[in-house]
Amino acid sequence: MSMSIGTPGSADAVRLILLGSGELGREVALEAIRLGVEVLAVDRYAGAPAMQVAHRSAVVDMTDGAALRALLEQERARPHGQLLVVPEIEAIATEVLVELEADGLRVIPTARAARLTMDREGIRRLAAEELNLPTSPYRFCRSSEEVAEAIVAVGVPCVVKPVMSSSGKGQSVVRSLDGGAEAWAFAQVGTRADAGAVIVEGFVDFDYEITLLTVRHVGGTSFCAPIGHVQVDGDYRESWQPQPMTGAALDAAREVALKVTDALGGWGLFGVELFVRGNEVLFSEVSPRPHDTGMVTMATQALSEFALHARAILGLPVPAGEVPLLAPAGASAVVLAAAAGSPVYEGLDEALASDPSVSVRLFGKPEASKPRRLGVALAVAEDVEQARARAVAAAGAIRVR
Ligand SMILES: Nc1ncnc2c1ncn2[C@@H]1O[C@H](COP(=O)(O)OP(=O)(O)OP(=O)(O)O)[C@@H](O)[C@H]1O
Ligand SMILES: [Mg+2]
Repeated sequence: MSMSIGTPGSADAVRLILLGSGELGREVALEAIRLGVEVLAVDRYAGAPAMQVAHRSAVVDMTDGAALRALLEQERARPHGQLLVVPEIEAIATEVLVELEADGLRVIPTARAARLTMDREGIRRLAAEELNLPTSPYRFCRSSEEVAEAIVAVGVPCVVKPVMSSSGKGQSVVRSLDGGAEAWAFAQVGTRADAGAVIVEGFVDFDYEITLLTVRHVGGTSFCAPIGHVQVDGDYRESWQPQPMTGAALDAAREVALKVTDALGGWGLFGVELFVRGNEVLFSEVSPRPHDTGMVTMATQALSEFALHARAILGLPVPAGEVPLLAPAGASAVVLAAAAGSPVYEGLDEALASDPSVSVRLFGKPEASKPRRLGVALAVAEDVEQARARAVAAAGAIRVR
């Protein structure tokens, strides 16, 4: 499909409606704007990071199907060249996207991908039961009693997670067979749904975990070099690229990523989360959109994951095969909020003076509630160890008050 791009604000504009306006959305918005696209940034609060760079913004509760539908219908009625709905978060009334897509609205990558990945059940069942991809053993449960039974069936240690949650919220590791009630109760606090369903999954004693950024585009499917990361309480703190892997493990990882992204379909960038043990690769989950651990690509690749997403969405060329790296290695380290309130940053001068290969992104989030992610430090180097050390030092130099 050849695409024409009109002037933002005109009747020929390519209008991108960003559903979710966090730091990842902000970078998607910037990359789209660089290509002449008009961006409408949506979130449930005013002043969100992507709203600060977009042409227009709207404050809407995107889990409210009627409100979401009204917004999308209104935008569809305004003159435009092409309309692209780009979800940035999971918590969206995706049934509305499915309905409107059937009625001709273009959802990235597809409404079905957004629906299946909005909770852990849809995507896990697709991966394990339909695609037969290797995963940890698992059970879905809807009560404390079911969790107790599942822990016996799956074995300990195991991980209990709300079906609807992200960034590790409500997630706990159970180490004894009688830990079900506590894990169930903890999950209820961390879930964003009333249903309260959880997944109980076997704890994987992996050697390392990766995000394999996978791009489906007009010319086929391309991969970024694997990204390694560390998570604390289910939230990412550091990532680096490339994660050293055996050829066999990398082949297996790409095979899993290709299968799951082909099943979800559409154009765009996906973050495929995988656990690696020796040459064995287990599927964990996938984001049909840029991934937080992939922020490292803003330093390591000429086309970051956000630029790749924008190009893929617009039907523009993406490098074939493996997306090249600009440096032997790169890393990212997050800057976290220290206290509630409107953050003030100090030490940026120190952070940037620590090494010429360091760069910083501050997200401009209006409210910092601990331990919200407020920024990220990026670095490149001759090897992963050095890149990580530089990124961590730079992030550590930034003080938030
Ligand atoms: N079965 C498991 N075995 C071992 N570690 C696990 C398992 N499940 C999750 N983890 C650890 O917890 C992290 C977060 O888990 P997961 O990605 O499922 O949660 P999430 O809430 O969706 O997080 P995010 O939104 O940040 O991706 C994983 O990256 C991994 O480090
Ligand atoms: Mg995850």
